[in-house]
Amino acid sequence: LSGDEVLVVSNREPYLHTRTRNGIEVQRPASGLITAVEPVMRACSGTWIAHGSGSADKESVDRNDRVAVPPSNPSYTLRRVWLTKEEEQGYYYGFANEGLWPLCHIAHVRPVFRSTDWEQYEAVNQRFADAVVREARTDDPVVLVQDYHFALLPRMVREQLPKATIITFWHIPWPNSESFGICPWREELLDGLLGSTILGFHTPFHCKNFLETVDRYLETRIEHESGTISFGGKLTQVEQYPISIAWPDGDANMPTVAECRSSVRAEHGMSHDHLLAVGVDRLDYTKGIIERFQAVERMLELHPNLIGRFSMIQIAAPTRSSLDEYQNFEARVRALVQRINNRFGNGNYLPIILKAEHHGSDQVTRYYRAAEVCMVTSLHDGMNLVAKEFIASRYDDRGVLVLSQFTGAARELPEALVVNPYHIEQSADALYRAVTMPEIEQCERMRSMRSLVKDFNIYRWAGRMLLDAARVRQRERVVT
Ligand code: G6P
Repeated sequence: LSGDEVLVVSNREPYLHTRTRNGIEVQRPASGLITAVEPVMRACSGTWIAHGSGSADKESVDRNDRVAVPPSNPSYTLRRVWLTKEEEQGYYYGFANEGLWPLCHIAHVRPVFRSTDWEQYEAVNQRFADAVVREARTDDPVVLVQDYHFALLPRMVREQLPKATIITFWHIPWPNSESFGICPWREELLDGLLGSTILGFHTPFHCKNFLETVDRYLETRIEHESGTISFGGKLTQVEQYPISIAWPDGDANMPTVAECRSSVRAEHGMSHDHLLAVGVDRLDYTKGIIERFQAVERMLELHPNLIGRFSMIQIAAPTRSSLDEYQNFEARVRALVQRINNRFGNGNYLPIILKAEHHGSDQVTRYYRAAEVCMVTSLHDGMNLVAKEFIASRYDDRGVLVLSQFTGAARELPEALVVNPYHIEQSADALYRAVTMPEIEQCERMRSMRSLVKDFNIYRWAGRMLLDAARVRQRERVVT
């Protein structure tokens, strides 16, 4: 694709300018999508179109709403789209996060569908599609559409730029056709997505669910074996592209495992042999944070010798906090932490340390390196990049990953201790096994996981998608 124009569209922007007491600061949001797509953009220096949501975003762009990023070493363009309060409410909080998010994640939270949200979702998708068309310098750019915020956009772009190669990646799970079918606008969403040349999911299972959903609700021709859908005379290729992270090569400035181990323990007044587990998530009900803490509680019940010797540090980045469901969830998490800490803790000892605030990636790496165990217990997750980040941070080949079987990552990482997060007893056993695992076994498991994540890194993910796109372009050139 060298020489081709690449545009990315996502809701969340990779850099937010925020106004603070010390002036304008730049923040990177907690998002697996950003973690994954940003290194690709750095490498191909295109244009990234996203919602300008930082409090000082407007002051940081040029007349065309563009800003060169990353701020420290500009290598691509961020083009911000502004949304009104009503648009943000209906499209982002409403339809995307109270409708599609619970619809696609099986976490037993009931989706809410309001017509007014749907109207905003349509209108905002159109605004972003128009921004893509305005930013495009050629009539056949490669457009990389990200996630469930933009199911309608592929069709909208296709109508204005018929020759564009549109690759849409759905970062969250796709449920079975029956579950998806409760959405009042299921046909419209499917039609929108079928404006894509290529539609990617993390796992073959999500691809299969999508094909079956289309089969059930639209009049199309589907080749199940090759994953192609023919609709209105156009083809969409459905393919699995398991997402990943950039493998860290030059983090010489980061403290070593030994330094992280001792500094984190010292900060929390813990002895040097205190056992630590770490969890890193957005404070989201799909992440299984409550089940994780229940597993910690159960482990301490079963192994009272660990009381006073084991703690879990949970980093929980605030997210979507104006929604009731998220506020209730946070309250439940806090109440549970307090109850467990009252039960097993004392003045100097807390079994669970909850840090419900945003942490930068270097800070997160410190905790990964300090811990014996990383716990990923999502109730449902497209991939989960925390699992892969933890592995990448452990150059010492030590540390154990406890991983939910309901993440995409579990398919690639069978060497983790794979658990059903709803089965508290099983997770408690896995956690105990993790903190007591002999070093030799840790090493074997970690080495094997490291070699997979290193090979199947984010450039492979993007590379495979772009290569498939290049093949389609080539074929279209030959045919026309
Ligand atoms: C998930 C979604 C992303 C989203 C991220 C953070 O990973 O797939 O699209 O950006 O959560 O959520 P937020 O609502 O803060 O963007």
